[in-house]
This record gives sequence, C-alpha cells and structure tokens, in this order.
Amino acid sequence: MEKEEAEKYILAGQIAKSVVSKAKKDIKPGQKLLEIALNIEKSITSIAVDGKEKAKPAFPVNLSINENAAHFTPETGCELVLKESDVLKVDLGCHIDGFICDTAFTLNFDNSHAKMIETAELALEEGLKIAVDKAELGKIGTAIEKAIKGKGFNSIQNLSGHGLGQFETHASPSIPNIASGNSKQLEEGNAYALEPFATDGEGYVREGMQSEIFALEKPVLVRNPHARKMLEVIAEEFQTLPFALRWIEEKLKMPEFQRKVAVRELLRAKAIRSFPVLHEQPRKIVAQAEKSFILFDGKATVLC
Ligand code: CO
Repeated sequence: MEKEEAEKYILAGQIAKSVVSKAKKDIKPGQKLLEIALNIEKSITSIAVDGKEKAKPAFPVNLSINENAAHFTPETGCELVLKESDVLKVDLGCHIDGFICDTAFTLNFDNSHAKMIETAELALEEGLKIAVDKAELGKIGTAIEKAIKGKGFNSIQNLSGHGLGQFETHASPSIPNIASGNSKQLEEGNAYALEPFATDGEGYVREGMQSEIFALEKPVLVRNPHARKMLEVIAEEFQTLPFALRWIEEKLKMPEFQRKVAVRELLRAKAIRSFPVLHEQPRKIVAQAEKSFILFDGKATVLC
C-alpha cells in the first residue's frame, strides 16, 4: 500500500465516523427504513472532512432487522417502519477512489437485547486487539468466538470479516468469526474489516428469497435492450461495487416491469450476481459490530 492509498483509507474512515455519529443521533423508532437508508446514503456523499474530496457509498446501506443478519436494504416504496423492540444492524461503507471503509453498529431502542449488542462489540474489540501484522486468522476467530460464547451467545460461523481491496468490498482473505487452526496471516500493507455477529440462534445464516442488492459479475453480451442499457449504467456507475436497484431507477427511465425483466435477464446471463438477505432461525435475534483497519507503516490503524 502506498502512502497516498493509506491517506484515502483514512479519509474514508473519517467520513464514515461522521456518518455513523450522525446516524446514531438521527435514527428513531417510527421512521421508515427507506428514509433511514436514504438519509445515511445522502450523508455519505455530502459530508466533507477539512474541505477535502467527498466519499461515495461503497454499497447500499444494509438495515437488517432481528433474525435478518445482513444484506437487507429497503427498495423504493418499502413501507417497513422501525419499531422500538427491533434489533437493527446498520452496516455502511464509503469509499474514496475505491478505497473502502466498511463499518457497522446495532441499535435496539427498548434495550431488550442490550447484552447481545455489547457482546458483539466486545468480540470486535477482542479481535482488533490482536489484529496486527502476521496475526493468524484462526486466532482472531478464536478470540471472537470466545468473547461471544463467554456471554452465552453463538457466533455466526458462516459470516466473516474480510480483506478490503480497491473497489472490492469483500477481498480475500475471509477472517473467521469462530475458532479454527487457520494459520494464514494478516499482512502489512493491507486493509481489513472485522465483523462479528452474536446471536441467540444456532449461529448459522441461510439465504432468504429477497434480494435488493446486486453487483456486476462480468460484462457479457445480452440481447434484451433494456438489460443491455441496465448493464451499461451499472458498469459505469458502480464498477464491481454492490448497488441497489433504487440507485439506478432514475437513470434508467424504464417502467418497473421492464426493470424486473432486465434484472432477471442479467442474473440469468451471470452478468450480475445478487446478495440475498441472510437470516438466522425465525424469531431469533442477531447483533453485529464491525470496524475496518489498515496495517501500514508498522501499525494497525482503525479507520472506523
Ligand atoms: Co464488511
């Protein structure tokens, strides 16, 4: 990693920090999830640090509730309203020239799941403590799982932390959230995110039916003219970063049913991939905490 890249990561982190503290102040029960998502995404593009360049969202803000662990983002017209008893995971990312800060926190206004949220945060801190150059991935996972099990919860085994690459939200390696003998190491000059999940469920997520988040897979030739137009917009606007359909609706100027056909066509041609909502068992709850960091100049710097 060059110094210039490190500076972009750090700036993305400063912006993410402002976005997180604004979101924590602004989010209230009774709000529509769509309004919350639009507000956060707007603040990502409008917050400036020291008059420097602004950031872009690295992916649609994820607002997964209760048993949903990840990958839910409200679609246009979504009427879902945040309840006091909901456990809301806010997972957001911003980037400068593709250098990403990925961060998440959990809110629960009636505090009925405060202990689970504290546990996810504790696990993140325990993981970050040992996330230095040459740290073994298995040891990080062991520290995370130990912190979560120690408080009586399960760590979700098939969700993990990850590397961050330019325009790559989930670069290798995967950083496990459970104990293992994985002896692969973190390396100086790279960026990573740790993201433990604590749950009263079984500690395993499954894909649901709903997908509102997509990403470019490969630019293939498709026959349907609407699909072709959609693919052009996607490649130009987001490169390989995940996007929500609500981000391109205005640009496409096509009726909803044409958009749906185009998405189906692009999925079938494997031009794009979808990120289905990932959920725990029904009526179980998931809490998440996440921070990004870089290993640069001989030290670990937490971005946000
Ligand atoms: Co992440």
